[in-house]
Amino acid sequence: MLLLSKEEIKEIFSMKEAIEACKLAFQTFSSGKSIIPLRTNLEIIKYNGTTLFMPGYVEDFDIAGVKIVSVFPDNPSKGKPSVPATMILMDETTGEVCSILDGTYLTQLRTGAASGAATDILARKNSRIGALIGTGGQAICQLEAMLTVRRLEEVRIFSRNSERVKSFVKKAQTDLSYFDTSFLVAKSSDDAIKDADIITAVTTSKQPVFDGSLVKAGAHINGVGSFMPDMQELDEEIIRRANKIYFDSQEAVLSESGDFITPLKNNKIDKNNFVGDLGEVINGDLKGRESDKEITLFKTVGLAVQDIVTGTMIYKKALKNKVGQNYYFK
Ligand SMILES: NC(=O)c1ccc[n+]([C@@H]2O[C@H](COP(=O)([O-])OP(=O)(O)OC[C@H]3O[C@@H](n4cnc5c(N)ncnc54)[C@H](O)[C@@H]3O)[C@@H](O)[C@H]2O)c1
Repeated sequence: MLLLSKEEIKEIFSMKEAIEACKLAFQTFSSGKSIIPLRTNLEIIKYNGTTLFMPGYVEDFDIAGVKIVSVFPDNPSKGKPSVPATMILMDETTGEVCSILDGTYLTQLRTGAASGAATDILARKNSRIGALIGTGGQAICQLEAMLTVRRLEEVRIFSRNSERVKSFVKKAQTDLSYFDTSFLVAKSSDDAIKDADIITAVTTSKQPVFDGSLVKAGAHINGVGSFMPDMQELDEEIIRRANKIYFDSQEAVLSESGDFITPLKNNKIDKNNFVGDLGEVINGDLKGRESDKEITLFKTVGLAVQDIVTGTMIYKKALKNKVGQNYYFK
Protein backbone atom coordinates (compact mmCIF):
# COMPACT_ATOMS: atom_id res chain seq x y z
CA MET A 1 0.00 0.00 0.00
CA LEU A 2 1.45 3.35 -0.98
CA LEU A 3 0.75 6.07 1.58
CA LEU A 4 0.74 9.60 0.15
CA SER A 5 0.77 12.76 2.27
CA LYS A 6 -0.26 16.26 1.21
CA GLU A 7 3.38 17.34 0.80
CA GLU A 8 4.16 14.31 -1.37
CA ILE A 9 1.09 14.93 -3.54
CA LYS A 10 2.00 18.62 -3.90
CA GLU A 11 5.57 17.70 -4.87
CA ILE A 12 4.50 15.67 -7.90
CA PHE A 13 1.03 16.85 -9.00
CA SER A 14 0.11 20.38 -10.13
CA MET A 15 -3.26 22.16 -10.30
CA LYS A 16 -2.94 22.10 -14.11
CA GLU A 17 -2.68 18.30 -14.01
CA ALA A 18 -5.61 18.13 -11.55
CA ILE A 19 -7.79 20.20 -13.92
CA GLU A 20 -7.02 17.80 -16.78
CA ALA A 21 -7.74 14.86 -14.44
CA CYS A 22 -11.13 16.36 -13.55
CA LYS A 23 -12.01 16.90 -17.21
CA LEU A 24 -11.21 13.23 -17.80
CA ALA A 25 -13.25 12.28 -14.72
CA PHE A 26 -16.35 14.16 -15.93
CA GLN A 27 -15.91 12.70 -19.41
CA THR A 28 -15.60 9.18 -17.96
CA PHE A 29 -18.71 9.77 -15.84
CA SER A 30 -20.79 11.03 -18.79
CA SER A 31 -19.70 8.25 -21.14
CA GLY A 32 -20.83 5.57 -18.69
CA LYS A 33 -17.34 4.15 -18.15
CA SER A 34 -17.61 4.32 -14.39
CA ILE A 35 -19.86 2.97 -11.68
CA ILE A 36 -20.61 5.76 -9.25
CA PRO A 37 -23.40 4.98 -6.76
CA LEU A 38 -24.99 8.00 -5.04
CA ARG A 39 -23.01 8.58 -1.86
CA THR A 40 -24.19 7.60 1.60
CA ASN A 41 -24.51 10.56 3.96
CA LEU A 42 -24.44 9.87 7.68
CA GLU A 43 -25.66 12.80 9.79
CA ILE A 44 -23.89 13.14 13.14
CA ILE A 45 -26.38 15.54 14.75
CA LYS A 46 -24.70 15.42 18.19
CA TYR A 47 -21.55 17.09 16.77
CA ASN A 48 -23.20 19.11 13.96
CA GLY A 49 -21.48 17.04 11.31
CA THR A 50 -22.00 14.80 8.31
CA THR A 51 -19.84 11.89 7.19
CA LEU A 52 -20.06 10.87 3.54
CA PHE A 53 -18.96 7.56 1.98
CA MET A 54 -18.18 8.03 -1.70
CA PRO A 55 -17.47 4.78 -3.55
CA GLY A 56 -16.83 4.24 -7.25
CA TYR A 57 -15.13 2.18 -9.94
CA VAL A 58 -13.45 3.42 -13.13
CA GLU A 59 -13.26 0.70 -15.76
CA ASP A 60 -10.43 2.16 -17.87
CA PHE A 61 -8.09 2.31 -14.85
CA ASP A 62 -9.12 -0.99 -13.20
CA ILE A 63 -9.22 1.05 -10.01
CA ALA A 64 -12.02 1.36 -7.50
CA GLY A 65 -12.00 3.56 -4.46
CA VAL A 66 -13.86 5.10 -1.62
CA LYS A 67 -13.39 8.50 -0.08
CA ILE A 68 -14.50 8.93 3.49
CA VAL A 69 -15.10 12.63 3.88
CA SER A 70 -16.72 14.55 6.71
CA VAL A 71 -18.15 18.04 6.88
CA PHE A 72 -17.92 19.35 10.45
CA PRO A 73 -18.38 23.14 10.29
CA ASP A 74 -17.35 23.61 13.95
CA ASN A 75 -13.93 21.99 13.38
CA PRO A 76 -12.01 25.22 12.57
CA SER A 77 -12.64 26.43 16.16
CA LYS A 78 -10.81 23.23 17.28
CA GLY A 79 -7.93 23.95 14.87
CA LYS A 80 -9.09 21.18 12.51
CA PRO A 81 -10.30 21.36 8.88
CA SER A 82 -14.09 21.53 8.28
CA VAL A 83 -13.77 18.92 5.55
CA PRO A 84 -11.33 16.17 6.69
CA ALA A 85 -11.02 13.15 4.39
CA THR A 86 -9.13 9.96 3.56
CA MET A 87 -8.98 8.40 0.09
CA ILE A 88 -8.58 4.64 -0.37
CA LEU A 89 -7.75 3.20 -3.81
CA MET A 90 -8.16 -0.48 -4.71
CA ASP A 91 -6.52 -2.45 -7.50
CA GLU A 92 -9.54 -4.07 -9.10
CA THR A 93 -7.54 -6.82 -10.75
CA THR A 94 -7.20 -8.25 -7.20
CA GLY A 95 -9.53 -6.17 -5.03
CA GLU A 96 -6.62 -5.20 -2.76
CA VAL A 97 -6.09 -1.72 -1.37
CA CYS A 98 -3.12 -0.23 -3.28
CA SER A 99 -2.96 3.31 -1.92
CA ILE A 100 -4.18 5.61 0.85
CA LEU A 101 -3.97 9.32 0.12
CA ASP A 102 -4.44 12.45 2.22
CA GLY A 103 -8.07 12.95 1.21
CA THR A 104 -8.32 16.38 2.84
CA TYR A 105 -5.83 17.80 0.34
CA LEU A 106 -7.13 15.61 -2.51
CA THR A 107 -10.61 17.08 -1.88
CA GLN A 108 -9.31 20.65 -1.97
CA LEU A 109 -7.29 19.93 -5.12
CA ARG A 110 -9.99 18.13 -7.12
CA THR A 111 -12.76 20.53 -5.98
CA GLY A 112 -10.68 23.48 -7.13
CA ALA A 113 -9.89 21.55 -10.31
CA ALA A 114 -13.61 20.93 -11.02
CA SER A 115 -14.26 24.69 -10.95
CA GLY A 116 -11.06 25.16 -12.96
CA ALA A 117 -12.29 22.72 -15.62
CA ALA A 118 -15.71 24.41 -15.81
CA THR A 119 -14.13 27.88 -15.93
CA ASP A 120 -11.70 26.79 -18.65
CA ILE A 121 -14.56 25.42 -20.75
CA LEU A 122 -17.26 28.03 -20.04
CA ALA A 123 -15.74 31.40 -19.03
CA ARG A 124 -14.98 34.07 -21.61
CA LYS A 125 -11.38 33.88 -22.81
CA ASN A 126 -10.94 37.62 -22.14
CA SER A 127 -12.02 37.39 -18.48
CA ARG A 128 -10.02 39.88 -16.37
CA ILE A 129 -11.68 40.16 -12.96
CA GLY A 130 -12.39 37.34 -10.53
CA ALA A 131 -14.43 37.17 -7.31
CA LEU A 132 -14.13 34.60 -4.56
CA ILE A 133 -16.73 34.31 -1.79
CA GLY A 134 -15.54 32.13 1.11
CA THR A 135 -12.02 31.83 2.48
CA GLY A 136 -12.11 28.45 4.24
CA GLY A 137 -10.28 25.20 3.60
CA GLN A 138 -11.31 24.87 -0.05
CA ALA A 139 -10.70 28.48 -1.03
CA ILE A 140 -6.99 28.61 -1.90
CA CYS A 141 -7.30 25.75 -4.40
CA GLN A 142 -10.40 27.42 -5.91
CA LEU A 143 -8.36 30.58 -6.39
CA GLU A 144 -5.36 28.71 -7.80
CA ALA A 145 -7.62 26.88 -10.27
CA MET A 146 -9.29 30.11 -11.46
CA LEU A 147 -5.85 31.65 -12.08
CA THR A 148 -4.51 28.51 -13.77
CA VAL A 149 -7.10 28.74 -16.56
CA ARG A 150 -7.50 32.53 -17.01
CA ARG A 151 -5.01 35.36 -16.82
CA LEU A 152 -6.76 37.65 -14.31
CA GLU A 153 -5.69 41.17 -13.35
CA GLU A 154 -7.45 41.09 -10.00
CA VAL A 155 -9.50 38.87 -7.75
CA ARG A 156 -11.78 40.40 -5.11
CA ILE A 157 -12.21 38.26 -2.05
CA PHE A 158 -14.98 38.26 0.56
CA SER A 159 -16.19 36.12 3.42
CA ARG A 160 -18.06 36.69 6.69
CA ASN A 161 -15.07 37.31 8.93
CA SER A 162 -13.05 40.34 7.78
CA GLU A 163 -9.92 39.37 9.78
CA ARG A 164 -9.87 35.94 8.11
CA VAL A 165 -10.29 37.55 4.68
CA LYS A 166 -7.27 39.77 5.36
CA SER A 167 -5.10 36.82 6.40
CA PHE A 168 -6.34 34.78 3.41
CA VAL A 169 -5.41 37.64 1.05
CA LYS A 170 -1.92 37.75 2.61
CA LYS A 171 -1.57 33.99 2.10
CA ALA A 172 -2.71 34.30 -1.53
CA GLN A 173 -0.19 37.13 -2.08
CA THR A 174 2.58 34.81 -0.87
CA ASP A 175 1.53 31.39 -2.15
CA LEU A 176 0.17 32.53 -5.52
CA SER A 177 2.54 35.46 -6.19
CA TYR A 178 3.80 33.80 -9.40
CA PHE A 179 0.44 34.62 -11.07
CA ASP A 180 1.03 38.39 -11.08
CA THR A 181 -2.60 39.04 -10.04
CA SER A 182 -3.79 41.58 -7.43
CA PHE A 183 -5.73 40.05 -4.56
CA LEU A 184 -8.09 42.56 -2.94
CA VAL A 185 -10.22 42.49 0.23
CA ALA A 186 -13.81 43.29 -0.81
CA LYS A 187 -16.07 45.30 1.54
CA SER A 188 -19.09 43.13 0.73
CA SER A 189 -19.92 40.18 -1.45
CA ASP A 190 -21.80 42.47 -3.82
CA ASP A 191 -18.71 44.70 -4.13
CA ALA A 192 -16.71 41.58 -4.93
CA ILE A 193 -18.99 40.30 -7.69
CA LYS A 194 -19.96 43.55 -9.42
CA ASP A 195 -18.05 43.66 -12.77
CA ALA A 196 -16.52 40.24 -12.10
CA ASP A 197 -16.06 37.96 -15.10
CA ILE A 198 -15.64 34.83 -12.98
CA ILE A 199 -17.32 34.28 -9.60
CA THR A 200 -16.72 31.32 -7.30
CA ALA A 201 -18.84 30.79 -4.18
CA VAL A 202 -17.38 28.23 -1.76
CA THR A 203 -19.12 28.67 1.56
CA THR A 204 -21.06 26.71 4.17
CA SER A 205 -23.88 29.27 4.00
CA LYS A 206 -27.57 28.52 4.38
CA GLN A 207 -28.54 31.85 2.77
CA PRO A 208 -27.53 33.25 -0.64
CA VAL A 209 -24.13 34.96 -0.41
CA PHE A 210 -24.46 37.49 -3.25
CA ASP A 211 -27.14 39.36 -5.17
CA GLY A 212 -27.64 37.62 -8.50
CA SER A 213 -29.17 40.73 -10.10
CA LEU A 214 -25.72 42.42 -9.90
CA VAL A 215 -23.88 39.77 -11.92
CA LYS A 216 -22.69 41.23 -15.23
CA ALA A 217 -23.68 39.83 -18.62
CA GLY A 218 -21.05 37.40 -19.87
CA ALA A 219 -19.95 36.27 -16.40
CA HIS A 220 -19.26 32.68 -15.41
CA ILE A 221 -20.20 31.42 -11.92
CA ASN A 222 -19.05 28.34 -10.00
CA GLY A 223 -21.31 27.24 -7.12
CA VAL A 224 -19.29 24.89 -4.91
CA GLY A 225 -20.51 25.05 -1.32
CA SER A 226 -24.11 23.82 -1.03
CA PHE A 227 -24.34 20.02 -0.85
CA MET A 228 -27.35 19.57 1.46
CA PRO A 229 -31.01 20.58 0.95
CA ASP A 230 -30.79 23.15 3.79
CA MET A 231 -27.67 24.86 2.34
CA GLN A 232 -27.99 27.65 -0.21
CA GLU A 233 -25.39 30.13 -1.44
CA LEU A 234 -26.82 30.99 -4.90
CA ASP A 235 -30.01 33.07 -5.01
CA GLU A 236 -32.98 32.35 -7.27
CA GLU A 237 -32.22 35.44 -9.32
CA ILE A 238 -28.87 34.17 -10.61
CA ILE A 239 -30.34 30.76 -11.37
CA ARG A 240 -33.11 32.49 -13.35
CA ARG A 241 -30.72 34.92 -15.07
CA ALA A 242 -28.11 32.32 -16.07
CA ASN A 243 -28.54 31.52 -19.76
CA LYS A 244 -26.92 28.13 -19.40
CA ILE A 245 -26.54 25.96 -16.31
CA TYR A 246 -24.19 22.97 -16.16
CA PHE A 247 -23.62 20.44 -13.41
CA ASP A 248 -21.02 17.90 -12.38
CA SER A 249 -24.05 15.61 -12.17
CA GLN A 250 -27.52 17.08 -12.60
CA GLU A 251 -28.99 14.04 -10.84
CA ALA A 252 -26.74 14.46 -7.80
CA VAL A 253 -27.23 18.25 -7.62
CA LEU A 254 -31.02 17.99 -7.79
CA SER A 255 -31.07 15.40 -5.05
CA GLU A 256 -28.57 17.15 -2.73
CA SER A 257 -28.18 20.92 -3.18
CA GLY A 258 -30.52 23.50 -1.64
CA ASP A 259 -29.34 25.97 -4.33
CA PHE A 260 -31.70 24.13 -6.67
CA ILE A 261 -33.97 22.03 -4.43
CA THR A 262 -35.39 25.05 -2.54
CA PRO A 263 -36.31 27.31 -5.48
CA LEU A 264 -37.64 24.34 -7.51
CA LYS A 265 -39.83 23.29 -4.58
CA ASN A 266 -41.14 26.88 -4.24
CA ASN A 267 -41.75 27.16 -8.01
CA LYS A 268 -39.32 30.11 -8.21
CA ILE A 269 -37.27 28.60 -11.03
CA ASP A 270 -37.83 26.10 -13.83
CA LYS A 271 -35.43 23.77 -15.62
CA ASN A 272 -35.46 25.53 -19.02
CA ASN A 273 -31.88 26.80 -18.68
CA PHE A 274 -30.48 23.50 -17.32
CA VAL A 275 -28.22 22.29 -20.13
CA GLY A 276 -26.75 19.13 -18.58
CA ASP A 277 -23.51 17.71 -17.23
CA LEU A 278 -20.11 19.24 -17.97
CA GLY A 279 -18.84 15.82 -19.11
CA GLU A 280 -21.35 15.91 -21.96
CA VAL A 281 -19.87 19.24 -23.12
CA ILE A 282 -16.37 17.72 -22.96
CA ASN A 283 -17.63 14.69 -24.93
CA GLY A 284 -19.06 17.05 -27.59
CA ASP A 285 -22.69 16.02 -26.92
CA LEU A 286 -23.78 19.40 -25.53
CA LYS A 287 -22.89 22.97 -26.39
CA GLY A 288 -21.01 25.27 -24.04
CA ARG A 289 -20.95 29.08 -24.16
CA GLU A 290 -22.16 30.48 -27.50
CA SER A 291 -21.82 34.24 -26.97
CA ASP A 292 -19.90 36.78 -24.88
CA LYS A 293 -23.19 38.00 -23.38
CA GLU A 294 -24.31 34.71 -21.90
CA ILE A 295 -24.12 34.08 -18.17
CA THR A 296 -22.93 30.51 -17.57
CA LEU A 297 -23.23 28.72 -14.23
CA PHE A 298 -21.59 25.50 -13.07
CA LYS A 299 -22.90 23.77 -9.96
CA THR A 300 -20.86 21.02 -8.34
CA VAL A 301 -21.59 18.86 -5.30
CA GLY A 302 -18.56 16.63 -5.92
CA LEU A 303 -18.43 13.13 -7.43
CA ALA A 304 -16.46 10.06 -6.40
CA VAL A 305 -15.21 9.76 -9.99
CA GLN A 306 -13.18 12.98 -9.49
CA ASP A 307 -11.45 11.46 -6.46
CA ILE A 308 -10.78 8.14 -8.16
CA VAL A 309 -9.44 9.56 -11.43
CA THR A 310 -7.38 12.30 -9.75
CA GLY A 311 -6.23 9.92 -6.99
CA THR A 312 -5.20 7.26 -9.51
CA MET A 313 -3.23 9.71 -11.62
CA ILE A 314 -1.42 10.90 -8.48
CA TYR A 315 -0.79 7.29 -7.40
CA LYS A 316 0.64 6.31 -10.81
CA LYS A 317 2.89 9.36 -10.90
CA ALA A 318 4.05 8.66 -7.33
CA LEU A 319 5.00 5.08 -8.30
CA LYS A 320 6.93 6.39 -11.30
CA ASN A 321 8.72 9.03 -9.24
CA LYS A 322 9.26 6.72 -6.25
CA VAL A 323 7.41 9.11 -3.92
CA GLY A 324 5.41 8.01 -0.82
CA GLN A 325 5.79 5.43 1.92
CA ASN A 326 5.10 1.73 1.34
CA TYR A 327 3.19 -0.07 4.05
CA TYR A 328 2.62 -3.84 4.30
CA PHE A 329 0.40 -5.73 6.76
CA LYS A 330 2.60 -8.37 8.41
N1 LIG B 1 -18.57 20.66 -4.44
C1 LIG B 1 -17.65 19.91 -3.89
O1 LIG B 1 -17.11 18.98 -4.49
C2 LIG B 1 -17.18 20.24 -2.50
C3 LIG B 1 -16.00 19.65 -2.01
C4 LIG B 1 -15.55 20.00 -0.75
C5 LIG B 1 -16.27 20.90 0.01
N2 LIG B 1 -17.43 21.41 -0.47
C6 LIG B 1 -18.24 22.34 0.33
O2 LIG B 1 -17.69 23.62 0.23
C7 LIG B 1 -18.04 24.37 1.40
C8 LIG B 1 -16.82 25.12 1.91
O3 LIG B 1 -15.85 24.19 2.35
P1 LIG B 1 -14.60 24.68 3.22
O4 LIG B 1 -13.78 23.47 3.50
O5 LIG B 1 -13.95 25.85 2.56
O6 LIG B 1 -15.38 25.17 4.54
P2 LIG B 1 -14.86 26.11 5.72
O7 LIG B 1 -15.76 25.88 6.87
O8 LIG B 1 -13.40 25.93 5.91
O9 LIG B 1 -15.10 27.59 5.16
C9 LIG B 1 -16.38 28.10 4.95
C10 LIG B 1 -16.26 29.52 4.45
O10 LIG B 1 -17.58 29.99 4.14
C11 LIG B 1 -17.69 31.31 4.63
N3 LIG B 1 -19.10 31.65 4.80
C12 LIG B 1 -20.05 30.94 5.45
N4 LIG B 1 -21.23 31.60 5.37
C13 LIG B 1 -21.01 32.71 4.64
C14 LIG B 1 -21.82 33.79 4.21
N5 LIG B 1 -23.11 33.85 4.53
N6 LIG B 1 -21.27 34.75 3.44
C15 LIG B 1 -19.97 34.71 3.10
N7 LIG B 1 -19.13 33.72 3.49
C16 LIG B 1 -19.66 32.75 4.25
C17 LIG B 1 -16.93 31.27 5.94
O11 LIG B 1 -16.63 32.56 6.40
C18 LIG B 1 -15.69 30.47 5.49
O12 LIG B 1 -14.76 31.33 4.87
C19 LIG B 1 -18.63 23.38 2.38
O13 LIG B 1 -20.03 23.47 2.39
C20 LIG B 1 -18.20 22.04 1.81
O14 LIG B 1 -19.07 20.99 2.14
C21 LIG B 1 -17.88 21.11 -1.70
